[in-house]
Amino acid sequence: MTNTTQPTIVVATDKDHAARCTADLIHETVRENPSSVLGLATGGTPVGVYRLMVERFQAGELDFSKVTTFNLDEYVGLGPEHDQSYRYFMQQQLFDHVNVVQESTYVPNGLASNIEKHVAEYEEQILQAGGIDLQLLGIGNNGHIAFNEPGSPIDSRTRLVDLTEDTIEANSRFFESAAEVPRHAITMGIGTILEARRIVLMATGKSKAKVVQSAIEGPADPSNPASLLQGHARLTFVLDPESASELSL
Ligand code: PGA
Repeated sequence: MTNTTQPTIVVATDKDHAARCTADLIHETVRENPSSVLGLATGGTPVGVYRLMVERFQAGELDFSKVTTFNLDEYVGLGPEHDQSYRYFMQQQLFDHVNVVQESTYVPNGLASNIEKHVAEYEEQILQAGGIDLQLLGIGNNGHIAFNEPGSPIDSRTRLVDLTEDTIEANSRFFESAAEVPRHAITMGIGTILEARRIVLMATGKSKAKVVQSAIEGPADPSNPASLLQGHARLTFVLDPESASELSL
């Protein structure tokens, strides 16, 4: 592609292939620079990616010993031992199974007593680490990226946010009931995400088709936060055929 502001769109043959393509991009980043700073995401979408990263580590193909990671978000009120906290998810899916240095894995602290101070420190820690080389993203059914819900400003930074009813409903599948889903979260902002040198947004399944189409082909508008990624110099969408099905490509 000659226009560098156009995203790269990879349509994989299926969900597993999408995970492989995404893992390959992360792999390439770490191979090129073993001290890479990775921005990581939670949710159902990246589970296959983390499985592959663990397999590649076990096969001696990937070394995380110098890697630093920053996660996008965390529920307010859930500590690292809570099985629905994103810190817990990351330990289970990736960190406990690879040689990343625990102190080099950053996830916002859902139990921070002073959230304002904590979010400012989180931004500072990203800067101190040299910025994020590759940011992995999923996309919510409403277009959210991390917990930047519709209406989030393009220049938003790491902050405390309210979750929308849509997101609470979508995430209630992981809790006993919707009433148990936290109402607030700490999330990196869209401005924070846009500073990553490379962004890889992965989506799979029919339920994401419309929001993916509008993120890529619609106007850049805060009503679909993922559309605000348009124009990033190094943006890749990794899709399966279902999530790509509404694209006019
Ligand atoms: P999912 O969530 O991967 O569980 O679909 C994506 C998101 O909400 O960002």
